[in-house]
Amino acid sequence: MINAPSLANCDFMDLPDQVAQFVDAGVRFFHVDVMDQHYVPNLCFPVSFVADLKRRYPQVVVDAHLMVSAPDVYLDRLAEAGADYVSFPSDATSVVRRTLGAIQERGMKAGVMINPSQRVDVIEPYLPYLDFVVLMTVEPGFAGQRFLPGSLERLDALVAMRTAAGSSMLIEIDGGVDHEMGAECVRRGADILVSGVFTVFGQPDGIVSACHRFQAAMDAVER
Ligand code: DX5
Ligand code: ZN
Repeated sequence: MINAPSLANCDFMDLPDQVAQFVDAGVRFFHVDVMDQHYVPNLCFPVSFVADLKRRYPQVVVDAHLMVSAPDVYLDRLAEAGADYVSFPSDATSVVRRTLGAIQERGMKAGVMINPSQRVDVIEPYLPYLDFVVLMTVEPGFAGQRFLPGSLERLDALVAMRTAAGSSMLIEIDGGVDHEMGAECVRRGADILVSGVFTVFGQPDGIVSACHRFQAAMDAVER
């Protein structure tokens, strides 16, 4: 299981220190939310933050999660900034396959995000082109919401589609993951868990210990 802390949950007054603690804890995969105040009613990291993060920690994987209404215009800058994974909302463009190709042509892994209001089989036409998929388990736009009921069944459907298609796309779970739901997701076939306020942020034992506890608990789950 890949632990992908969502840096939107950082206390921005302590951002460099908190990122350093994650790196010390062995985290190598960071989830960076990019929002535009149009696709979702909120703003989050600018693309320049991806560049800052990669400059300080070239060894980490940056997973840019676009919640924007025009994903294509971000791609050149994300590639230049050093983003490794890029996902975007499939309902933000009518040319999903072209956008996936544009991400991959720039040397990045391409994924789409599936909203709670979308059928999971929305990805069926472009399943062969996906490196990964982001299953939203909360409404996009805000950190700290609870894992939505019905999400595990949606994950099962996604895993079944992946198996039927012989695809090796990774399945990433984003939103409200706690130890209990995280374990369920891993058991059912999820590969990447976005971690936030219920697992690694704001825990009494601090970031390093909370990351170690979360990783150990998820790695103990039988798949
Ligand atoms: C929600 C974001 C998530 C969020 C996850 O729009 O995409 O990445 O920050 O953090 P938690 O699980 O704490 O909500
Ligand atoms: Zn996210």
